[in-house]
Amino acid sequence: MRILVIGSGGREHVLTWKLSKSPKVTNIFVAPGNAGTSFIATNLSLFSTQEIINWVKENSVDLVVVGPDNYLAEGIVDMLQELNVPVFGPTKAAAEIEWSKAFAKKFMKKEGVPTARYELFTDLDKAREYVRTEPFPIVIKASGLALGKGVIITNNLKEAELCLDEIMRDKIFGEAGNEVIIEEYLNGIEISAHAFCDGDKTIMFPSSQDHKRIFENDEGPNTGGMGTIALVPGITNEQLEEIKEKIILPTLQGLKKLGRPFKGVLFPGIMLTENGPKVIEFNARFGDPETQSYMRILETDLVDILFACIEGTLDKQKVNWSDKSACCIVLASGGYPGIYEKGEKITGLENMNSEDVEIFHAGTKIEEAATVTSGGRVLGITATSTSIQGALAKAYKAIESIEFEGVQFRKDIGQKSIK
Ligand code: AMP
Ligand code: GLY
Repeated sequence: MRILVIGSGGREHVLTWKLSKSPKVTNIFVAPGNAGTSFIATNLSLFSTQEIINWVKENSVDLVVVGPDNYLAEGIVDMLQELNVPVFGPTKAAAEIEWSKAFAKKFMKKEGVPTARYELFTDLDKAREYVRTEPFPIVIKASGLALGKGVIITNNLKEAELCLDEIMRDKIFGEAGNEVIIEEYLNGIEISAHAFCDGDKTIMFPSSQDHKRIFENDEGPNTGGMGTIALVPGITNEQLEEIKEKIILPTLQGLKKLGRPFKGVLFPGIMLTENGPKVIEFNARFGDPETQSYMRILETDLVDILFACIEGTLDKQKVNWSDKSACCIVLASGGYPGIYEKGEKITGLENMNSEDVEIFHAGTKIEEAATVTSGGRVLGITATSTSIQGALAKAYKAIESIEFEGVQFRKDIGQKSIK
């Protein structure tokens, strides 16, 4: 089997790593990939949806796996389906649950999926008027895709008005800010839920938890994610079952009713509140860096699961997870999520991987035979153990020997949940 993985992050490296363990797989191509994927697969210098489609027309592949949301929003799945190429991921219409927060909020209201109370605005004056009447903190979100940065929690009227001006008038997130959602602030424990979906049926992953802020104790600006743990201590099977019953299944049924059956990974960010789980946002893809932790404890052949989702046979598919816990610590460039340097030489990567520790690359590339930084999030150090504490200890130990100029990482991944 020849597989094409689309994307260049840590998620794509770990998916490539996991797929390469399948006895069914002969070749893996990654478009465009990173230094890490180049060691275990063939990187292709393809970036746009059209470049990828053209390549697929001229090369035979048996499965395409789409990593990032922007390709889903551009309809790459629909285009590949037209070419009769098996592809893992939702169509453009099904993925709207991620690429339009306005669509997702209206959909949840209609289907009774629990989420924060909200109002939608396209008019700046009306939005400014609304925030004068609501209690703080209040959450302001650009409706479109904004690279994970389009969500701002404001603590007072002055902050809220400034934020609305920047998004709606100054367009700091471009067109994504034409429509904004203003919503109630949810208190609780935030976790990531993932579910394999075949349009109709679902199999949930165990619980995981990301750490989105750049600094320890959840301070500083939001990032794409600075580290994950899976399983999350204290999260029960009953809570996961409640997420399945109240959130995943009604969403699948609702999308099916709209003629947009969802095949792929449905990944809601969840706030576990006093009143039960509520959706913070929907993603229509594997999380990054959630996937780096998840793939370390998934035992079943991923190829089989992906095909069961595509073919609508998840009810006949087993998905087994090891009884270990996993973590992923992200090493980021100095200055990220703001401005940062690229091209810093990374040392200490040799002979690091063991049965317990695996390093996945994100923003890396090969330059003159050396591995150098090329993005904000650079590496994900993963480890497994019988306890989450054990996994974290191994990952942090491994980090001691890795270096690049300006490296920053959070030293408190998992601590909040362990406490
Ligand atoms: P999102 O990009 O929608 O996942 O939002 C980024 C982060 O903002 C989330 O991971 C939450 O930590 C936080 N957030 C978003 N919406 C809310 C909300 N309604 N209440 C509290 N925190 C929120
Ligand atoms: N780790 C959060 C995301 O993938 O959106």
